[in-house]
Amino acid sequence: MIQSLKGMPDILPKDIHRWHEVESTLKNLFTLYSYEEIRTPLLESTDLFSRSVGTGTDIVEKEMYTFVDRNGDSISLRPEGTASVVRAYNQHHLGHSASLVRLYYMGPMFRHERPQKGRYRQFFQVGIEALGKSNSEVDAEVINILYDIGLHFKLESPILQINSVGDYVCRTPYQNLLSQFLVTHQEALCETCQKRITTNPMRVFDCKNSTCQEVILAAPLIFDHLCKDCLSHFEILTKQLDLLKIPYVLNKQIVRGLDYYTRTAFEMTAGGLGSQNAVGAGGRYDLLVEQCGGEPTPAVGFALGMERLLLSATNISDHKPIQICILPLQGEYESKASLLAQKLRSELPKDRQISIASLVGTKSIKAGMRQANKMSARYVILLGENEVKNKSATLKNMTTHGQQEIEQTKLVSFILGEIDGK
Ligand code: HAM
Repeated sequence: MIQSLKGMPDILPKDIHRWHEVESTLKNLFTLYSYEEIRTPLLESTDLFSRSVGTGTDIVEKEMYTFVDRNGDSISLRPEGTASVVRAYNQHHLGHSASLVRLYYMGPMFRHERPQKGRYRQFFQVGIEALGKSNSEVDAEVINILYDIGLHFKLESPILQINSVGDYVCRTPYQNLLSQFLVTHQEALCETCQKRITTNPMRVFDCKNSTCQEVILAAPLIFDHLCKDCLSHFEILTKQLDLLKIPYVLNKQIVRGLDYYTRTAFEMTAGGLGSQNAVGAGGRYDLLVEQCGGEPTPAVGFALGMERLLLSATNISDHKPIQICILPLQGEYESKASLLAQKLRSELPKDRQISIASLVGTKSIKAGMRQANKMSARYVILLGENEVKNKSATLKNMTTHGQQEIEQTKLVSFILGEIDGK
């Protein structure tokens, strides 16, 4: 039997209602904050990700699904959404329509990581990006949305951690300082991190190697070397978070595993996830739009992992559609059962979560009722000789077990009345 690829799980019908519930709640929440959906392709030129996420990052160096297509071009499955949104923002001149463009996206991302609980090779991200303003209030709005998500779904012990990773003014002198520190501990670093001393020293913070982690514990931190403007940006942000009554902790160790961040960086961790405890993360990226060929445009955003949100959430209502089954009492009424099912489907309002199935091919009434039970039917409509003669149907309520004969023309209004408790 052919199996799915490692780290690329199926999402089965039994679980899909929780996904739908989260997706529709998030769409409503983003709309409330004036964010509009954008859908970008799963495949992009490899260059987009190496230029934005950064050539020295784990994502680009070790985790991307990259291949040469039939034209000989190097293309990659997207490992994250921000780079594609920035590309689309530039390509379609989205900045011309508003001074602050608010976008959200949902969809699969791909990283060739070692699979474990909460970490997959194909995973779903939901993200938002606000492009156009550098004000700390926009950072606070973006963090507010992540915080609202945590509150709504009642994540297990959520913690919002924030930091500032500086900008081009303070980053260069800091990186020199960090490189000098790392050189003095060179022997303790892994081979990759030894190379990073000269290429991209801040990436040493991402290394999972225990000796590298020990070294980095004593390293100078960017937060302690911020320039005046970055510090002021951070202070206004924290003041705004206080006014919004959003609890946070300062974690100076957060650098994020992607190169494009400037100033604000944040993560929301939660329980129930084991070691992969970051449900959502993001930050500001004021230089990326320009680096990708656009006008200088400050921006900020975050993405959260749907699988991790679903693992940590304690408040997802499982709104399954109401199932109605139509059971012909003899084989000769199977066609009539299918026609009645179709009549009900055409009469029912399309925005209701109601499923109609005709149970054809069942061997006996008992087998049909068993099937209806397996489908968790709330109602079964029985169609036998009497009903066909009377142009009626017998509606059986599977919760109360009561049943009554109803004219077929009145079935839909009767069922809707029952469901709505009228
Ligand atoms: P990231 O931290 O790489 O940031 O990913 C964001 C979230 O995606 C993580 O917190 C986690 O919940 C989820 N995630 C990442 N990798 C995996 C995986 N292998 N399996 C399951 N879930 C995973 C970004 O991707 C940035 N684009 C976020 C951003 C948006 N920054 C600014 N705007």
